[in-house]
Order: sequence, then structure tokens, then C-alpha cells
Amino acid sequence: MDVLRIRGGQPLKGTIRASGAKNACLPIFAATLLTEETCVIENVPDLSDVRFMARILEAMGAEVERPEPNTWKITAKEVATRAPYDLVRKMRASVCLLGPLVGRMKSAEVSLPGGCVIGQRPIDLHLKGLSKLHCDVDVRNGYVFVDAKAAHGGHVFLGGRHGSTVTGTANIVMAAVLTPGITRIDSAACEPEVVDLCKMLISMGAKIDGVGSHALTIEGVEALRGTTYRVINDRIEAGTYLLAAAMMESDVRVEGAEAEHMSALLDKLEEAGLDYTIEAVDAIRVRGQRCNLKPVDVITLPHPGYATDLQAQMSTLMSVTPGLSIITERIYPNRFMHVPELQRMGADIAIEGPSAIVKGRKQPLSGAPVMASDLRASAALVIAGLAAEGETWVQRIYHLDRGYEKMEEKFKGLGAEIDRIDDADMPRDDETMA
Ligand code: EPZ
Repeated sequence: MDVLRIRGGQPLKGTIRASGAKNACLPIFAATLLTEETCVIENVPDLSDVRFMARILEAMGAEVERPEPNTWKITAKEVATRAPYDLVRKMRASVCLLGPLVGRMKSAEVSLPGGCVIGQRPIDLHLKGLSKLHCDVDVRNGYVFVDAKAAHGGHVFLGGRHGSTVTGTANIVMAAVLTPGITRIDSAACEPEVVDLCKMLISMGAKIDGVGSHALTIEGVEALRGTTYRVINDRIEAGTYLLAAAMMESDVRVEGAEAEHMSALLDKLEEAGLDYTIEAVDAIRVRGQRCNLKPVDVITLPHPGYATDLQAQMSTLMSVTPGLSIITERIYPNRFMHVPELQRMGADIAIEGPSAIVKGRKQPLSGAPVMASDLRASAALVIAGLAAEGETWVQRIYHLDRGYEKMEEKFKGLGAEIDRIDDADMPRDDETMA
């Protein structure tokens, strides 16, 4: 198994580019099931989650090709209506297959996704939405069975205890585009990734109004055509790089960073006093120094609020920003798996309910062997290692590979000392660590 060895403290200088957005790609891949014609998807990041979704589509009968590393060609002439447990359980996002199967095949059998370390991850709102489209929805033996032969447009409120649902909105939109009648979704998610999916569906001939708002209106059509579609850049990856550059001496231009997708993060970085410039519609330059920011309080909310996927990375930045900051997680209240690992590096963080109370300090974090637990926690540990004194070993980085394309190579390009090595070569406790 791979680990990342990081020798911290190197200044970061140069240009780093975010890849295509994982959380746009996954529903967009699922949406290729909505037509028997060929879809060409461009700017696809080379991630294990993307390759896995492609594998699921293939298992369901789609023809999947990869003419270039970041371009995929998918033709779903014949599609099975069952998404198997042994595949779905490995990746929650495969719940996005529900919508296209309901829309195209009027029938679906999709395994209930498991939970994960960041929370239970229920899909009650997805099922509520399908019921409002007058589908017959039944949950038994760990599967969701949907009969949509009598489905027609309806009105659904998709807000839950934690606000709107991103993949829930994706599912209902993908079901509704081929369901006769008018469907209205209130409290729809309006994350850029949902907007991207809607734009791809419209390029296939779907009729969707209100894209980018919390109120979507969809008029079902008979069939959708194939398309060639370029996925947006990953705002979470780009935000991760901005937060890394903010932690240390740096002069970094982040490309693929679309300011209009990151206004909550940029607002917080401005409040903290970070020196950054928006150099182009998709490029932001950061000039960072160690410990020269002010602490900020952050509450994660549905878009356009501060993204939960950037919460762990902000916790890392605040742990080396002198003063007190309170980081409250409103989307996944126990999304703090990164905290015990940051504490091993010397961070002073206390968890009080849904909040992390961070006592930032001037003293740099100290390098240590740490354990990744989920995708964004891994990213938080990597950037902590870049700013720490000494050597950090981030283990189980298969979590990182789910959502960041070649992160260590990208940081190496900025002058970081970071290498991917086999964990067999990791010093054991009884050996000194340089
Ligand atoms: C998407 O997950 C993203 N994943 C997540 O990114 C992201 O953290 C999340 O949206 C929130 O922005 C993908 O897009 C593949 P939700 P999703 O449904 O759609 C509750 C990453 O690191 N809820 O918007 O599963 C839910 O428990 C991943 O890239 C219900 O209660 O999230 C959560 O508290 C992690 N009932 C909140 O709503 C439901 O039916 C938001 O969940 C659905 C959700």
C-alpha cells in the first residue's frame, strides 16, 4: 500500500492546476445511461472513483472507451436495470444510477449505499423525490426497487435536516428529464457540479429551467441524444491548493480555480487577511507567509455557503494561524476524523458537538506518521505535512487517490519535498526518523 513521505517547510512557488471536478463527473457518467447514443466526456480527472464508475457502467452493459487519459466515450445501447451490491457498496456516489435507470428504463434495482466515516449518508430524500414522480418505490433486502411505468411529473421539496441534497437533486433531475409531464423541485441543490450536470443534460436535449437556483422545473421529453461535454474544474481541489499556499511562504498561481465557484472560501481567506489576486476567470494567485493571517470562524452550509469538503483543510490552516477559530460542520456533524491526526502533529483542537475549537499557534506543526481516513481528511493531512517541521508519513492514501489526481506530483512541481513510496519502506517505530 502506498504512503506519502513529506519533508515539510519548503516554500511553494509556481503554478498548480486543478483537474476536472470529481463530483460533477460521477453524476455526468451516470447520465450517459439516459441515451442510447454516444456521449464523449472531456476534462475527466484520472481518479479511482471515476475509473470505478466506468467499471459499473460497463458491468451494466454500456460500451466504455477512454480515447485519451482525460476523455471517456460511453455508449449505453442496452442497459441492465440492476446495479450490483458488490460494486455499489464500494462507492456511495453510484446511488446516482437510480435516476437514469428510472428515466430511461422505467425500472431500477440499486443497492442501498453503505454509510462512510463522515456520516450515515441516508437517501430518504432521493426516495421521496422518486415517489413524488409517482414511482412505486420499495426498499427490501438492502436494495431499492423502483417501478416507474406509471411515473409522471410531480412537485417535490428536497430539503432535509442538513439542507438540500446534491446527489439527491441529481437523481431526481435525471429521472424527470425522461418522465412525461412537468416536474418542479424546490430546495434543489445548486452546487456548481449540479449546474454542470444540468448543462450536460440540456446539451442532450433535456428541458430544464432554473439551473443554478434552488427551484428547478423540468419538462420530460421522449428521448435524449448523445453529446460531447467538458466537465468543470474541481473547486474543492483548487480550494485545497489555495489553503495549502496560505499556510506557508508561497507564491502560487492556482489554475482551474474559478472564483465564481469559490466565493465562500475566498470571502473567508479575505477575512483572514490572505494576499491573493484573481488573475483570470479560472486562475487565482496566492502570496502566503507563515502565521501572518487572522483566525476566522467557519460554518459549513449548502452552496453557496462554505463547502463541507473544504472544512478539514481550513481546520489545518487555522491550526497554524495564531488565535482562536471555531469551525462548525452543519452538513456532516461528525466530519472530524482529521482532528486526532492533526493533534498528533501538535495541533490544538477540541471538538465540542458539531464544532472544532481551534487554538492556532505560531509554532509550526511537527511531522509525524498519520493515518488518512477519508478523502478530504487525507488532503488536510497532506497540507499539514507540507507546512510542518520534519517528516510526515500519510498512510492509506488510497483515500486521497479517490479525489485528487496525482497530488504529490502537482505539489512537487511547486518545490515541495513529497514522494509516494511503498509502506514497506516506511521507518518503523524502533528506527529514528530523520
Ligand atoms: C455530495 O454528497 C458530494 N459527493 C460530497 O462530497 C459532499 O460532501 C456533499 O455532496 C455535500 O456537499 C458527490 O457529489 C459524489 P448530500 P451527497 O446528499 O450528495 C443529508 C467528497 O469529499 N441527506 O448533499 O451524498 C446527508 O446525510 C464528497 O467529495 C439526507 O439526510 O451529499 C448530509 O448530511 C464527500 N437525506 C446532507 O444531507 C438524503 O436523502 C447533504 O448530503 C440525502 C442527504
